[in-house]
Amino acid sequence: MAFPDSFLDELMERNELTDVVSSYLHLVKKGSNMFGLCPFHNEKTPSFSVTPSKQLYYCFGCGKGGGVINFIMEIENLSYPDAVRFLADRVGMTVPETGGESISIRRKRLLELNKDAARFFYSVLNEQAGANAVKYLKERKIKRATVRRFGLGAAPDSWDSLITAMTRLGYEKQELIEAGLAVKGSKGNIYDKFRNRLMFPVIDIRDNIIGFGGRSLGGEDPKYLNTPETLVFSKRKSLYGINFAKKTKRPNIILCEGNIDVITLHQAGFDNAVASMGTSLTVEQTRLLARYTREIVICYDNDEAGQLATERALDILKNSELDVRVLKLPTKTADGKEVKQDADDFVKKHGSEAFERLLAGSENHIEYSLLAIQNEYDLSQADQRVEFLKAASELISKLSSPVEREIYGARAAEAAGVSPDAMKLEIKRALRRRLAARKKAMEKTRPSVQYQPRDRSLRYTNVKSAAAEEGIIRLTLLDPSLISDIDITPEEFSSPFLGKVFSEIKSRYSEQRSLSLPLFSQELTSEEMSLLTHIVNKPENLSRAKHALKDYITTIRMEKLNSTSDFEELAKILKERKQAYGGYELE
Ligand code: UTP
Ligand code: MN
Repeated sequence: MAFPDSFLDELMERNELTDVVSSYLHLVKKGSNMFGLCPFHNEKTPSFSVTPSKQLYYCFGCGKGGGVINFIMEIENLSYPDAVRFLADRVGMTVPETGGESISIRRKRLLELNKDAARFFYSVLNEQAGANAVKYLKERKIKRATVRRFGLGAAPDSWDSLITAMTRLGYEKQELIEAGLAVKGSKGNIYDKFRNRLMFPVIDIRDNIIGFGGRSLGGEDPKYLNTPETLVFSKRKSLYGINFAKKTKRPNIILCEGNIDVITLHQAGFDNAVASMGTSLTVEQTRLLARYTREIVICYDNDEAGQLATERALDILKNSELDVRVLKLPTKTADGKEVKQDADDFVKKHGSEAFERLLAGSENHIEYSLLAIQNEYDLSQADQRVEFLKAASELISKLSSPVEREIYGARAAEAAGVSPDAMKLEIKRALRRRLAARKKAMEKTRPSVQYQPRDRSLRYTNVKSAAAEEGIIRLTLLDPSLISDIDITPEEFSSPFLGKVFSEIKSRYSEQRSLSLPLFSQELTSEEMSLLTHIVNKPENLSRAKHALKDYITTIRMEKLNSTSDFEELAKILKERKQAYGGYELE
């Protein structure tokens, strides 16, 4: 859908970029730009910049960039038209279109529907249709008060209980589908998505019910069914239990695997437990956690899958500012038998005090990784000991603090039965290897490689020509009046993308339409917009603009010439050039 330029111009004027961005992250002024921590990737030092004069943002870390509409598309996960509606709502503008409610109204409506659905599921517990759910809750030792606190409920074993109840309240079937509560069958029939399931409302930090998880009661697959992605629910961004954990007085947040783990832990007095719902931890969830705590305790199932998930979560968390510990649930019982368990099993078997002790003794993640390595080798064998020392020093050399390197080095030395000094030497070697490898990697990134767009599909085939094409785009955007002086066509550009941008600039100029860069987001993908922002952010000097333009055009044509092997073609190009420029000689 195309919105009129005049509307978009006003929209962007009223949604000043710094203003909009500031409601998501903290910006600090540095020169003529503002800087903050990038919301699109994990980082500790700010590389996300906003240039108020151009109304553009760009992250030097991850390369995302664009105007205010792109920003909202990225951060709110919206399509282009929905981002436009979102911004219009923000400043009370009316979107020029027929039909289609504004995004915030649709969201509110879906949240209302979710709340009514949760009330319905809860009420079912008092009815015959909820009898097996009640029985199940009892089996899992979930108390009545906990059921109320978490708003648990039951979806009856029926195809249309919820649809009937909700349409009676005035909701359309279409809305139930949009909320992920109903499904359209292949024959156009519409039925309840959740049937014969124990229902867990997923509640966000603003206490909205954004979705549901449903555990099967009759052994049907999948064991847990979750709300699909909707206007208000995104699995990557949600954490089950965060609505309570955000208010905890405990010094950390416990990240476990399942909904029931969260419930059992809360019931046992650990109101700081959350779970991601069947996905490994995401960057978005890390960011959410960082708003409420400084420390995460990972407490996944003690099986192999849990171990793997722990390693993956550690990998994500190592880029965040959060401290991380790993709580390992015992893999053996007191009498030495192997046991698979999760937090729920453990607390029910051993009680909350035992869990409290585990929590207090949980290891920081270096200890965890060191133990993991230790388990891989048979330290009674000399050759395995050597291998262990290598692997351990590799790991320890990654620590930035010398004190930590010393402490953990000594610990590894003890485990392998070697002297701490020998270990120190080994770590030093690993450190040196690491630095050498980094230096080599730096040398490898030649300028031409650095010059390439991050997005592979936009790769330049001729970097030198593309640099000149970028220059033309930069200059004409800075001073559109230059366009009338340029006699090169977009088709001559070596990069199809840059050609497309140049052609857009030309046609906007000739139609006397606005050349404000954020407006281009209507025609470009977000990757293209990021690249374009990057391009116009590079320095350019207007003082010798006409001369520079001529140089750019020459470069483009010379590069084309150099890459042409067809002699006839070559002669033709040369002839044309001579006519146009009064001639230049090939070197
Ligand atoms: P688990 O199977 O470990 O859950 O999956 P659990 O809580 O221990 O299960 P029960 O109820 O005690 O038997 C962990 C989490 O992964 C998600 C759910 O959120 C679940 O709580 N999951 C699991 C799914 O989304 N789909 C599935 O099919 C299974
Ligand atoms: Mn589990």
